[in-house]
Amino acid sequence: MIDVAVFASGTGSNFYNLAINPDLKKLINIKYLVCDNPKASVIEKAESLNIKTLVVNPKDFDSKKYYEEYILKNIENVKYIFLAGYMRIISPYFLEKFNGKIVNIHPSLLPLYKGKYSIKRAYENKEEFIGISIHYVNEEVDGGEILAQDKFKVDYKLSLDEVTQKVHELEHGLYPKTIIKILTDN
Ligand code: GRF
Repeated sequence: MIDVAVFASGTGSNFYNLAINPDLKKLINIKYLVCDNPKASVIEKAESLNIKTLVVNPKDFDSKKYYEEYILKNIENVKYIFLAGYMRIISPYFLEKFNGKIVNIHPSLLPLYKGKYSIKRAYENKEEFIGISIHYVNEEVDGGEILAQDKFKVDYKLSLDEVTQKVHELEHGLYPKTIIKILTDN
């Protein structure tokens, strides 16, 4: 069993989906949910699954370094970190401690639409395809090596909300599969 942490800031549908996946459960133990937003509903999801939550508000720290040091101190023995809607940039200092062991999911076909509001921007640009990417995290925002992608042809009769829902469905399928592949290949 490999101890991992999931970092999330919001709703946590990806977190929940990873936590209940039966194939993943055979490989990983989500030791911590790390959340930077005390109001995020992902916290209740973790509690409902008896997963330890580490809610760390950056506002309680004098600097990003202290914030990250606190997290590092509290996630001992964690081998991988999976980001699932974690809305903060991870510093080079933190990345170095988890060299090559931090993975993110992003709702666009990277390298397109890095950063926020990716689905909305792709939809407003009337992209033929909208998709998702799972990638290793490096110093560049949404910039690390891409591990897997999936996409669908957009039907513009669907609203942005409906397209967003389809994006989440893709995410919930691909993230667990990709994590299993990473863990079995390494
Ligand atoms: C997902 O679209 C993920 O790709 C992005 O943030 C969103 C998080 O959604 N990084 P949820 O909180 O997992 O529902």
